[in-house]
Amino acid sequence: MSFGFQQRIEAEMENVNSAWDEAFYESIRDIAEHPVVLRMKLYPHHGNSSCYDHCLNVAYYNYQVCRKFNLDAVSAARGGMLHDLFLYDWHTHTAKTGDHFHGLTHPKAALKNAAKFFKLNRIEKDVIKNHMWPVTVLSIPRTKEGWVTTFVDKYCGAFETSRRR
Ligand SMILES: [Fe+2]
Ligand SMILES: [Fe+2]
Repeated sequence: MSFGFQQRIEAEMENVNSAWDEAFYESIRDIAEHPVVLRMKLYPHHGNSSCYDHCLNVAYYNYQVCRKFNLDAVSAARGGMLHDLFLYDWHTHTAKTGDHFHGLTHPKAALKNAAKFFKLNRIEKDVIKNHMWPVTVLSIPRTKEGWVTTFVDKYCGAFETSRRR
């Protein structure tokens, strides 16, 4: 993906249309209020935000950016809300399980969890499975919404970490 694409995403993230907020929330309500998804509130993610807060941020900006780009904003939002549904504290996960590859393995874990509880379309699966590219070298997004997510996820992560108190 070109540098220009990345810059446009960044610009759109700073210029959200709050008139779309209600439509955004309605598009993810069943996911955002599902008991399994709510469990993400128990796990810290970046800085002071929980995994739930992080997923809600990614869903929100995915929706905003994709709607501005005339992409499938609803699928991008729904995939975003589920993209880190791995349900453990990754800060202590390695010590507990010996899994040193959380960065590489969690997208597949999230996809497996998400597929258990929700019917996922092709774009939603792509958003979840390939969001860690380029860390996961061979797991490359196949959809534009998937590409948007790789950037939105990184910006949200950086923003959440910088607000750590
Ligand atoms: Fe992730
Ligand atoms: Fe993430």
